[in-house]
Amino acid sequence: MKKIVIMISGRGSNLVAIAENVNNGILQGECIIQAVFSNKRNAAGLQKAEQFGIPTHVISKTGNYNFHLLDWLRSKNPDLIILAGYMKILPAEIVRAFPQKIINIHPADTKEHQGLNGYKWAWEKKLAETKITVHFVDEGLDSGKIIGQRVVDLRGAESLAEIEKRGLQVEHEFYSECIKMILERID
Ligand code: GRF
Repeated sequence: MKKIVIMISGRGSNLVAIAENVNNGILQGECIIQAVFSNKRNAAGLQKAEQFGIPTHVISKTGNYNFHLLDWLRSKNPDLIILAGYMKILPAEIVRAFPQKIINIHPADTKEHQGLNGYKWAWEKKLAETKITVHFVDEGLDSGKIIGQRVVDLRGAESLAEIEKRGLQVEHEFYSECIKMILERID
């Protein structure tokens, strides 16, 4: 059975969607979630992980943060590291330690918009559609090789909240589909 680690910083709605798919959906029998990591002790997603019975791990102090994180990730030896709302940039030493094994979901087309507030960007630009992007993590900001993209129809959306709602609905299905595809490629 493949092993995955999920990294979060906040709400954890993607984490919940993945955990549901592992328990009862398209990821059932594909992988186990070894642990959920957060850099924020008060991340709401941590409690959600606990409700699923998933072990959690937090490193919140800043001194030697990346050293401890790398050490912990190595101890888990996961097949795939899944960033789901993890709001820190991973340093080169961690990216290099897990080549092609770290993936991220971005709420916009990474070729058009990098960094924070992908839905706000789509709202302000009045886009008719946006693209959720799942990509490998490299040493840059949202610059890694694209694994897949899925269009979100934004026509008729009357608020940023509506855009977020439509986008997250797509994220929650699409991320697990991409995870399944990547896991099937790993021997
Ligand atoms: C999502 O919109 C994801 O695309 C972005 O951060 C948000 C995390 O939301 N990277 P959640 O914590 O999974 O609810």
